[in-house]
Amino acid sequence: MRILLLGSGGREHALAWKIAQSPLLDKLFIAPGNAGTANVGQNVNIKATDFDAIKSFVLENGIDMVVVGPEDPLVKGIWDYFKNDAQLAGIPVIGPSKAAAQLEGSKDFAKQFMIRHGIPTAAYRTFTGESLEEGLKFLETLKAPYVLKADGLCAGKGVLILPTLEEARKELREMLGGMFGVASAQVVIEEFMSGIECSVFALTDGRNYKILPVAKDYKRIGEHDTGLNTGGMGSVSPVPFADEAWMKKVDEQIVRPTVEGLAKEGLVYKGFIFFGLINVEGQPKVIEYNCRMGDPETETVMLRLKTDIVELFKGVAEGRLGQMQVEEDPRSAVCVMLVSGGYPEHYEKGFEITGIDKVKDSIVFHAGTAFDANGKVVTAGGRVIAVSSYGKDKAEALKQSFESAELIKFQGKYNRRDIGQDL
Ligand code: AMP
Ligand code: GLY
Repeated sequence: MRILLLGSGGREHALAWKIAQSPLLDKLFIAPGNAGTANVGQNVNIKATDFDAIKSFVLENGIDMVVVGPEDPLVKGIWDYFKNDAQLAGIPVIGPSKAAAQLEGSKDFAKQFMIRHGIPTAAYRTFTGESLEEGLKFLETLKAPYVLKADGLCAGKGVLILPTLEEARKELREMLGGMFGVASAQVVIEEFMSGIECSVFALTDGRNYKILPVAKDYKRIGEHDTGLNTGGMGSVSPVPFADEAWMKKVDEQIVRPTVEGLAKEGLVYKGFIFFGLINVEGQPKVIEYNCRMGDPETETVMLRLKTDIVELFKGVAEGRLGQMQVEEDPRSAVCVMLVSGGYPEHYEKGFEITGIDKVKDSIVFHAGTAFDANGKVVTAGGRVIAVSSYGKDKAEALKQSFESAELIKFQGKYNRRDIGQDL
């Protein structure tokens, strides 16, 4: 098979690494990819949201399947673009339809969907500029901290958790006043839930589904979960509290009702569903849905997925997922993210990265990297390199990732040293 993978981050390098191991693969292209994906396939200089350019490439290069990494192309409707095009309709796109991608594209849509299907989540209400006064009153009925969410996609910045009523009132005014443009024309205010989070992933063909290895990511820049939110500073898999009994609840109360709810409502979904969960006194509840894999969770989940991912994708495309098995590697996997100094605020790019070739016992996934004019690998983003390792347990895997991380060097490099310690 000839596969085109869309995206350019650590998640895509991890997906590309896994896809490249499949005996079913003839050739893998990544658009646009990064300096790491170039080692496992061929990068193509096309943006993941440039549907017309993707169409030309797919037709000219005999692509048999398109795998979508990030949410943007999905929320913009790449699945429908293919289905509605006579030349592309027969080429499967691994991902949800535009209507189903609203599970991530609109927080209000996701909340209404969960309520309709009895899926456990925080109580909420949605407000617009016109109902601002009601929103301010609603805040007074809640206890601190206050959770405000812009309805639309905000590149991970649309959720505010505010310690005082005064700040919550001020931020609600600002959000509804256009702080995130149209994305915050509607704001979801929801009950604060206290507990440990984890990420559950399912792959579905729209009827059947398979749950993939569970992971936990670390979002804050500072150790012990302090400082600003980032795209993710590391991840671990498995997650000790997500044991068999807990995952049974997740399956019965969350994953199955989601897949069945989508099918009942005619929302076509043939791809990954990401359940952002929180464990509230033993009860799993949904914080959010995403319509793609997580980053940096993919950088551990792919290590623990033993089954051929291309076989699974074929199963999705052909509606045969129900007959397939997913085998997990019993070892632990962890990922430690190396980021640019100053991230997630201001940081510089273009610093040479050295030492990757010295790493022997970890798997190095590139996140924000590029080739400079001389072909050297340089930093090209806030999150630069994900260092993933196996271990017989979490501690052993972490030790390995930290050792390997020391070997990789670039100006301003920073990483958290407490990944996995809270579990
Ligand atoms: P989201 O973009 O919805 O994942 O939200 C970003 C982060 O905000 C989540 O990963 C949680 O850490 C936190 N969060 C969101 N909603 C809630 C909530 N209702 N209660 C507590 N924390 C939340
Ligand atoms: N790691 C969280 C996300 O991918 O949204």
